[in-house]
Amino acid sequence: MQDDPHLGTGNYDPATYWSARARRDAHGRFESVCVFGASEVENRCADRIQARSLLRAMRRVGIAGSRVLEYGCGIGRWASRVRGLGAEWVGVDLSDEMCERARIENPGCDAQVLQGGTRIPHPDAAFDVVYSVTVLHHNGHEAQEEILTEMLRVLRPGGTLLLMEAVGSAGSFNMFPRSHAGWIAFGRARGLEFVHSEGLHYWVLRGALASLRRPTGRAPSESTSPQSATTAPPPPRRGLVRRMVDHLDSWIDPWIQPLVPERARTGALFTFRKP
Ligand SMILES: C[S@@+](CC[C@H](N)C(=O)[O-])C[C@H]1O[C@@H](n2cnc3c(N)ncnc32)[C@H](O)[C@@H]1O
Repeated sequence: MQDDPHLGTGNYDPATYWSARARRDAHGRFESVCVFGASEVENRCADRIQARSLLRAMRRVGIAGSRVLEYGCGIGRWASRVRGLGAEWVGVDLSDEMCERARIENPGCDAQVLQGGTRIPHPDAAFDVVYSVTVLHHNGHEAQEEILTEMLRVLRPGGTLLLMEAVGSAGSFNMFPRSHAGWIAFGRARGLEFVHSEGLHYWVLRGALASLRRPTGRAPSESTSPQSATTAPPPPRRGLVRRMVDHLDSWIDPWIQPLVPERARTGALFTFRKP
């Protein structure tokens, strides 16, 4: 990305990169934690799709009265929504700048930086639910294993782990996805019971229109995942039609997710239970 000092250098250091992203809000407040360089409407679309899926899963689990930890909490965009379900929300993040924004945007909330870059500053079995939205896939596979160990340390037996991650095989500059089956195997290898998964796909209408115009070839970069667009070139000036499609996507996508074929989905929310 032209104006992102940490992209394209070949050296992805999560702490440096995400602290720089914490200061980004050129295209609305979600740009720090959703798609770098995307418009506010596009990011709102991603946010609505994720929210519908995550909050539905939390309702299914029943989190009222629970202590809930968000790992990689960013600017705290989920704090008020989790509290709205009657739970206590606690956040941790690698980036102090992200935690600071979370505390500013959610006065009184508990958002703390990881100790030594890896340790969650809470005791063992302190939480009923631990969740993470688009965080693990921004860390290499070895680091993902270490993060999972920490998440499971603070999750009580019988508690729920929710992971919303990119699904696919190809990584990019700061993306390390796994296949759908790979994420399930990732949890099961730690003795977690796999409960449920739900696929996600962003900007459905735009992707469908683009595929009508593109007889063969690759899928458009924006349909791979919101985060993969962090490495895409700056978006061109959007014309009226494109802006109308983006607005439409932002309203209808959360509702038409079930119509997207399974193989086209680029993200998923996984629910696990700790025995
Ligand atoms: C794409 S943002 C998502 C933020 C938040 N989960 C949300 O949905 O709004 C990724 C977040 O994960 C954090 N992060 C990345 N790697 C991390 C790690 N190894 N440990 C803790 N947080 C990490 C970043 O600082 C950033 O806040």
